[in-house]
Amino acid sequence: MPTFSKYEFGYSWFVAYGHLVPLALAAALAAVAAWRRWPRWVSVLAAVVIVWAAAGLFLMNVAFGINRPMALPTERFLASGAGRVLDAGAGSGRAAMGVLLSRPKATVTGLDIYEGYWGIDDNTPERFMTNARIAGAADRAEARTGDMRDMPFEDGTFDAVVSAYAIDHLRPDGIVEALAEVSRVLAPRGELLLMIVNVDWVAWLVSPHAIAHHPRQDPARWRARLEQAGFVVEEEGRKPATLYFLARKRQ
Ligand SMILES: C[S@@+](CC[C@H](N)C(=O)[O-])C[C@H]1O[C@@H](n2cnc3c(N)ncnc32)[C@H](O)[C@@H]1O
Repeated sequence: MPTFSKYEFGYSWFVAYGHLVPLALAAALAAVAAWRRWPRWVSVLAAVVIVWAAAGLFLMNVAFGINRPMALPTERFLASGAGRVLDAGAGSGRAAMGVLLSRPKATVTGLDIYEGYWGIDDNTPERFMTNARIAGAADRAEARTGDMRDMPFEDGTFDAVVSAYAIDHLRPDGIVEALAEVSRVLAPRGELLLMIVNVDWVAWLVSPHAIAHHPRQDPARWRARLEQAGFVVEEEGRKPATLYFLARKRQ
């Protein structure tokens, strides 16, 4: 399926373009309603669905950029542009590519369990490395298979960790374990940029069916979890369908 992007993040057709289905059905309904002179409310309903689906398509592909490297939500993350970065739950590498492109002296290790279905077709370390090659940064990237609740790295291996829409997919005890592991593999004063799905109006427009699987997030609960894992939250904010936290490991 063409993605109109040189990258191959592999998000399934229905994730990126699923809005085309209701859009086409509503357009067909509008055409039949006009032809058969059906009551006006039918055309109005079809128009509402068309506007919703077009907005969802735009937000997912243009504003959110599901098939583009991620624009990191804060410039303060790894402001030096250099260091050893871990992407926890890296998948096909949207966040990792965002780091490699915007932090030109950083190296990135993508860690992912690479099993199960997470909206990405053929989610493999090879796909992650294909994207690193497309980004022109394969020499600064590596993909590892492993569980972020029990990471295959020595203590203090990384200067920074990024994690996007992955830790929040774990069960509550898994979240605690993963944050403890992030803290363990970070060097003292290392940084964590954590992004989680936020059920806001953009999320509802973009993906109401997927959002049904995501609980409403309580920022205070995430702050408490981060503090419990040994972090100080330095910045917190919202982006479309996203809550993010920039946190620093205490000594
Ligand atoms: C929704 S995807 C997000 C992928 C990527 N971070 C992105 O933003 O495109 C969630 C990812 O978390 C990974 N994942 C889930 N549980 C994991 C675990 N216990 N350890 C490592 N990765 C895990 C999945 O394999 C999947 O690639």
